[in-house]
Amino acid sequence: MNILRTPADMQQRARELRAAGKRIGFVATMGYLHEGHLSLMRLARKESDVVVVSIFVNPAQFAPNEDLDKYPRDFARDEALCRQAGVDIIFYPEARDMYAPDASVYVAEESLSRVLCGASRPGHFRGVCTVVAKLFNLVLPDVAVFGEKDGQQLRIIERMVRDLNFPVRIVRGPTVREPDGLAMSSRNAYLSRDERKQAGLLKRALDKAALMYSELDMRDTKKIKESIVKVVLHGPDARVDYVEIVDDRTLEPVETIDRRCLIALAVYVGKTRLIDNLVIGGAR
Ligand code: PAJ
Repeated sequence: MNILRTPADMQQRARELRAAGKRIGFVATMGYLHEGHLSLMRLARKESDVVVVSIFVNPAQFAPNEDLDKYPRDFARDEALCRQAGVDIIFYPEARDMYAPDASVYVAEESLSRVLCGASRPGHFRGVCTVVAKLFNLVLPDVAVFGEKDGQQLRIIERMVRDLNFPVRIVRGPTVREPDGLAMSSRNAYLSRDERKQAGLLKRALDKAALMYSELDMRDTKKIKESIVKVVLHGPDARVDYVEIVDDRTLEPVETIDRRCLIALAVYVGKTRLIDNLVIGGAR
């Protein structure tokens, strides 16, 4: 396994690999790796000859009041996990090499980014799209795997690839969960023991919503959203940021589940903001 530290080295290696006819599979991460990330690496492995993983806590996607400085980092551990997972190259750049001090070009998606996490975190998806576009230009992947855990991010990246003609195939990786259903996330490390117990309520609320749809034939999104909020608020330290049911393709709000929909929620448990989502309705 090789560790490349500069954008120039990464791009040169990618060009050599491509010239040698290798298919490059790519997983972008912010590190502090967990089983969710590793599952994406295994998917990338299936689809390619060489697996590249980037580890970069991207300043551009954090607002000034957010957790950039305390975002968990442990490169030695990440390196060991990548090695075990059979990763070929880790791209581990420094922020000062990724962004020129006077950088002034950004990639902004202007429709899907307005809602859900985009409404709560202005500028977040501009930062994500910009760094993912840059990473695609450096890693030159044939295939890139992104997790369904970040459902809005995944759909925005698919839209960016379509609208800007990136020659990259996006593969969706299913959400990997803890035994109580909590979606794995690097940010789960922030939770106290007590908060960690309450965090399982997000998935329980989503499961109940899915049951209302499938067993009770409930189609009224207002009622389903109310039920989700109620379950989540069983946690004394839980505060709802948003609970939305939107069209799976456009991310526009839906009143009646008469098509494929995305149920998405963001909940603070204590000071930690957690997100999760589930697809219901329509043909899958
Ligand atoms: P990060 O949160 O580290 O996630 C990296 C990738 O892992 C994303 O595609 C995310 O959806 C996926 N992932 C996270 N938790 C998962 C889980 N429990 N199951 C399956 N996949 C999971 O998302 C980012 O980093 C950044 O925004 C990034 C795309 C790297 C751009 O900076």
